[in-house]
Amino acid sequence: LIAGNSTTTDMLGAGVVQLLKHPDQLAKFRARPDLHDNAMDEILRVEPPVSQVLRSAHEDMQVADKSIKKGDTLHMSLFGVHFDPEMNPDPHAFDIERKNVQHFAFGGGAHYCLGAGLGKAQAKIALPLLFARFPNLAFAPGREVKHKVAPAFNGYGEVWLVK
Ligand code: HEM
Repeated sequence: LIAGNSTTTDMLGAGVVQLLKHPDQLAKFRARPDLHDNAMDEILRVEPPVSQVLRSAHEDMQVADKSIKKGDTLHMSLFGVHFDPEMNPDPHAFDIERKNVQHFAFGGGAHYCLGAGLGKAQAKIALPLLFARFPNLAFAPGREVKHKVAPAFNGYGEVWLVK
């Protein structure tokens, strides 16, 4: 339930917030269904629903200036790596046309998310339908968009909209 529910819910919320915050991108999203697949990756890059994963070191290793000992538990920030300019140039720009979007929102390696295709497919259906059904969808005036507080997960607790 946690793997497949809160993640996809948070991805939908993040997609609504990011697209409403960037009207130029929303206009492109509405006009160009061919960009929807790339838009999903860009949403997952700037707002990964899982913000960190844990890994255990199997051997001593050196990563940049950090010494890691065998058995250490590492908290890997997916948020951090998604905004690395060497991976994604101009990382703070939300750009649904970004070339070669690099993200680890579904993890990596042996434990790569089992539901990655399903999660993305749900958002690819739901977000275009929502914006088509409500052409004037907007943030509700006077209401603050609030993140929820959930360690290792990233999502919104409150997003008030008007249609
Ligand atoms: C946008 C939606 C989703 C996101 C962002 C997401 C993210 C992730 C991430 C980051 C991991 C790797 C955790 C790690 O490396 O420690 C993971 C694993 C997993 N996810 Fe997802 N997930 C999503 C949707 C789903 C759905 C819909 C399902 C099930 C239907 C699912 C089932 C799983 C399972 C079973 C694993 C563990 C795989 C393993 O350990 O071998 N996820 N997910």
